[in-house]
Amino acid sequence: MDKAEKIHSLFYGFERPFFKANNRFVRSATHLGGADDATGEISIDEIKRLTEIAAGGAGTLITGLAFISPESKSFKREWGLHADERINDVARLSDEVHKFGSNLIVQICHGGGQRETSVASGSISFSPSGGIHPGCDINTDPISKDGIRKITEDFAAAALRAKKGGADGVEIHAGHGFLLTQFLSPSINKRDDEYGGSLENRSRIFYEILGSVRQAVGDGFNIWFKISMAEGTENGYGPEEGTALSIGLLKSGADGINVSSGTSYSGAMNSPSILGVSAGESEAPFAGYAAEIKKHASDRQITILTGGLRSLPVMAELIYNGTCDLLALSRPFIAEPDLINRWLEEDTRPTACISCNACFKTAKYGLIECPVLRDRNEGNWDPL
Ligand SMILES: Cc1cc2nc3c(=O)[nH]c(=O)nc-3n(C[C@H](O)[C@H](O)[C@H](O)COP(=O)(O)O)c2cc1C
Repeated sequence: MDKAEKIHSLFYGFERPFFKANNRFVRSATHLGGADDATGEISIDEIKRLTEIAAGGAGTLITGLAFISPESKSFKREWGLHADERINDVARLSDEVHKFGSNLIVQICHGGGQRETSVASGSISFSPSGGIHPGCDINTDPISKDGIRKITEDFAAAALRAKKGGADGVEIHAGHGFLLTQFLSPSINKRDDEYGGSLENRSRIFYEILGSVRQAVGDGFNIWFKISMAEGTENGYGPEEGTALSIGLLKSGADGINVSSGTSYSGAMNSPSILGVSAGESEAPFAGYAAEIKKHASDRQITILTGGLRSLPVMAELIYNGTCDLLALSRPFIAEPDLINRWLEEDTRPTACISCNACFKTAKYGLIECPVLRDRNEGNWDPL
């Protein structure tokens, strides 16, 4: 196959027994900060943003992280899937996204000790062993065994809400420093019961969540885990443990593993949103992990690669050489929601995103956007 054919094949359909996508491109989970703080209800503006990306050609969209209980919320204006009233949010999102033939995967997350101070104030926060999470300044209580059971039930209830709302699956956020990273981290998890110590013990809660979510949603509903393969800190867990856990989850019936790496406290160059990715030069830093995991995935399971994907030739090679099945991008879609159609129809140059992370800083002004590239004149795009 020559280079042009490899690139062209990225735009062909992709199929698994319980998952069909129009192409290999995925909008990676991206918290936009568009929800109501009192109720967790998603805003019409955030729905429009996701719809714009679906209309722009992405075959699959993963929502920004949604909290599963009040104490699991990390960010201001984070979307919530903690209550049945929010099922309608999923229905509104999936109706819009499905109109364009795209899939909707809902990301569900427990923040543990990783919470903004203003979000945590006035409530109790929890983490595997208590104390203060790196980079945060709130105190947390250790999680009891009943607390662990509640977390597995909260994940299951949130996943069932996603299913009832018409989503095509859930992605359990098990990376980037949130609660599940905290359990896996030997430097954060100091428990001396069956949830701390060995890798088997530090991973136990992942398998329990998979079991309770599967029981709630049944077979045929996608359950993906997004995992940081390495914690990215000196005393943190390394890629041997991250990949072993991912392979274990596949063997236990997860439908997909989304490969990421690093945490919010591992520094700019070890973070999941690596700074200054250069198209054709420093793309796909986590590809090696994905290749290892894909070797262990069955032909019913999906390996998704996220992080620093910027140009068609690099992505075409990753699919062609069997590194992964799907390609997930986050910051490029903040900058260019119509990126996939742009690539398909007119202009195959790499994304215009320069991976500067200025988007993160716009959170304090409202819905997150790209202050460098987004054409503000397109702000009146309105499908609803
Ligand atoms: C503004 C912003 C919000 C993000 N929110 C989430 C999130 O809610 N859940 C998640 O798993 N990752 C989140 N990420 C990380 C991305 O999904 C992705 O893993 C990372 O940015 C690397 O991909 P990229 O190089 O294509 O941006 C976010 C990234 C950005 C820039």
